[in-house]
Amino acid sequence: MKTGYNVAIDGPAGAGKSTVAKRVAREKGYIYVDTGAMYRAMALYLIRKGIAPDDEARIARVCREADISIEYREGEQVVLLAGENVNAFLRTEEVGNMASYSSAVPAVRKKLVELQQDLAGKADVVMDGRDIGTVVLPDADVKIYLTASSAVRAERRYLELREKGEEADLSKIEQDIIERDYRDMHREHSPLCQAPDAVLLDSSHMSIEEVVERIVSLCR
Ligand code: DC
Repeated sequence: MKTGYNVAIDGPAGAGKSTVAKRVAREKGYIYVDTGAMYRAMALYLIRKGIAPDDEARIARVCREADISIEYREGEQVVLLAGENVNAFLRTEEVGNMASYSSAVPAVRKKLVELQQDLAGKADVVMDGRDIGTVVLPDADVKIYLTASSAVRAERRYLELREKGEEADLSKIEQDIIERDYRDMHREHSPLCQAPDAVLLDSSHMSIEEVVERIVSLCR
């Protein structure tokens, strides 16, 4: 039985889902659930086990042993891998790349979807990901499909990296985004797509505030 109020936000990488979802959660007093971080934690586990991204058979076997859980500390989601806080290791390109492959494996999805449904059943949540409105929470109270052009998303990522003082190549970033979108949208299991009852928001020419306001206005 679903008792929590559920807001589902799906869309491609770099559309601003996590920034927006966090702010909506804060404004409404809901819990923010970052499902990408769960797929990244699984990817980190697989990398640490020395598994290649394209070794689907081993990924399917080894993912069952991963002990992934979620905790909230001072309002922040903390992903635990066998009790270890791995948040600091999740946002690298290596982990993101592995996650893009391993998240296509049904055994990985099954395990993490159960964890996500469990969280959403117990609390009011804003959950972001790729398949939240379509698969994880088909009965979500509000569904958003948040997107932006690949050029705009690449530029945001580029500025983010430069701000951190890291080297970045804009055209390479856009190429990576296009490839990751393709993999996320064309995989066999739970591909990224807009749920028929989701509200489409294109943030290419919207500010974060405008997007947040729009979503908050759709909540009860
Ligand atoms: O949103 P992100 O970049 O942190 O997601 C990491 C990877 O996990 C990305 O390739 C898509 C995948 N993912 C998924 O398949 N389903 C989700 N609900 C969330 C993320």
